[in-house]
This record gives sequence, structure tokens and C-alpha cells, in this order.
Amino acid sequence: MASIRKAVFPVAGLGTRFLPATKASPKEMMSIVDKPLIQYAAEEAEEAGVTQLVFITGRNKRSIEDHFDKAYELEAELESAGKHGLLDIVRNVLPPRTTCIYVRQAEALGLGHAVLCAKPVVGDEPFVVLLADDLIRAPGKGVVQQMADVHARFGCSVLSVQEVPREETNKYGIVKVEPGPEGELRVVAIVEKPAPADAPSNLAVVGRYLLTPRIFEKLTQTSAGAGGEIQLTDAIAALLEDEPVIAYPFQGKRYDCGSKLGYLQANVELGLVHPEVGERFAAYLRTFAQS
Ligand code: UTP
Repeated sequence: MASIRKAVFPVAGLGTRFLPATKASPKEMMSIVDKPLIQYAAEEAEEAGVTQLVFITGRNKRSIEDHFDKAYELEAELESAGKHGLLDIVRNVLPPRTTCIYVRQAEALGLGHAVLCAKPVVGDEPFVVLLADDLIRAPGKGVVQQMADVHARFGCSVLSVQEVPREETNKYGIVKVEPGPEGELRVVAIVEKPAPADAPSNLAVVGRYLLTPRIFEKLTQTSAGAGGEIQLTDAIAALLEDEPVIAYPFQGKRYDCGSKLGYLQANVELGLVHPEVGERFAAYLRTFAQS
């Protein structure tokens, strides 16, 4: 089965949980140590063989385009100063074979609507959706690659899932699953942000979706749901009537960088393993904890 070539990054949300930081600049450009969230997500997709990055953008998102564009003046400056290490870092933000496409979502009508905006670019092939504020550190293969492997085996849509505390089901899309013939988890129901008492399980969908193109047909037929937004979850529920969908408990640790606490945790944990500052940061934290 052909590999996944296209990744969609919905980045048109308002990022209200991070105001005022996100008043004029996108949440996805916030850095974990020294790299913006969106670049971690792009790298995860590229490692899995993705060559076309499709960004669904909105107002105040120009810096994302600039980040993935060539920076002539900066490169010339670094070159003439002989700063070759930094020059490589700047040049490698986008690998040579990768292309970027930007689609504007004029109004933030929800994640489902954002994904539907990618239809003319994605066309009739399976693709992945990455929510960059879910940063996932995987011990081996990245999560998109792990999901692509599942897709190669079963040929259907794959949702990355993880167990969450019962009291948090109202923050996620929650799936009900049944074991399939090969031990895979077949999704039998999916609900958006159920109250803990109504949740069919505590298995939550997090920010990686591998979807077959039929999702576009379902999104077109989906009307606004919870919060007046077009919900991707509702379209996946409709997809389930036609096709199998697999829930995949990924290998890796997820940081919810759309929340302040998750963002701080990611900075601490990635700071501790950072080649340049990791050791000194660890020493600092030890002293700080004792003070
Ligand atoms: P969130 O629910 O995290 O919303 O969206 P948000 O606006 O980014 O952040 P808060 O909750 O206000 O702090 C999930 C993902 O869907 C994208 C967001 O950019 C984010 O990656 N999204 C959401 C869109 O691209 N368009 C939309 O209309 C809504």
C-alpha cells in the first residue's frame, strides 16, 4: 500500500487558553525550548514519508508561513559570520523534497470545517491530520509512522488514542472500542466531549488522525454540533457506518501544549534532554528543588 504523502495541520484556532500570548501570534509558533510546536509536528510527519504539508491557516498566522519559507537575509548574515551550525538549523526547517500549501479558513468554524478546507489539496487519498499543540515524544518511530504502519496493515482510518482520567472525558473525543480479529481495536462509537457519567470509555482521541478521503464526504454532510462548530468527531461517527476505523494506543508520551501546565511540562522534560542546555538545566532544577 502506498505511503501517506500529505499531512494537514489545522492552525486556524484562536488559542484562547494562551491569551495574551496568542493575541497576535499563533499558538503553534510557541516554542518548546528552541523549536516551535509546528516544527515538531512537521518533522514527525516528514519522518513518516510525508512530502506535502497543508496548513489550514487564519488571521495572525503569517509567522507560520515565514517559518517554513526561505530566510534569505538571515542565511546571508549567518553565512558571512561563519555560523555554519546555525545556518544548517535554519536551512533544515524544511527538507528539500517537502512542499508547503496554505489554505485560509476564513472563519474558525471548528476542526471538522478546518479539515474540510483541505479537500481540494488532499483529493482522493488517505492523509494525516496533526494538531501541533499535542506534542508527542515517541521512543522509536514517531506516532504518524506508527499509524501509517497500522493503516498499511488494515487499509482504514486510524485514530491515535490514550487513556485519560474519567473526570477529563469532557475535554476529548471519546471512543468505544471492540477487539477485532487480529487484536486491533475497532471503533464502534465516538462522542465529542461527553460528561464523565455519559462517556462510553476513558479512551480519548488525541491530536493525530489518519483518515481515508471519504471523511470529506462525511464532513460535507455534517452540520454544526457542540459549540456551533463542525466537529470532526461527528464526521468520524458517520464514517463508521461505512468503513472500519481503528483506535490505536500509540507508543509515546503526549504533552498537551494547548494547556499551560502541559506546555510547561514539555519545556521542562525536553529542556532536560536538550544537548546544549540539558545538563546545566538539570543541575539548576536540583538546586532549585532544594532551595
Ligand atoms: P482547539 O480546540 O485546541 O482550539 O482546536 P484552539 O482555538 O486552538 O485553542 P483554545 O481552546 O481556544 O485555547 C483544536 C485544533 O483545531 C484547530 C486549532 O488550531 C487546533 O489545532 N482549529 C480549530 C482550526 O484550525 N479551525 C477551527 O475553526 C477550530
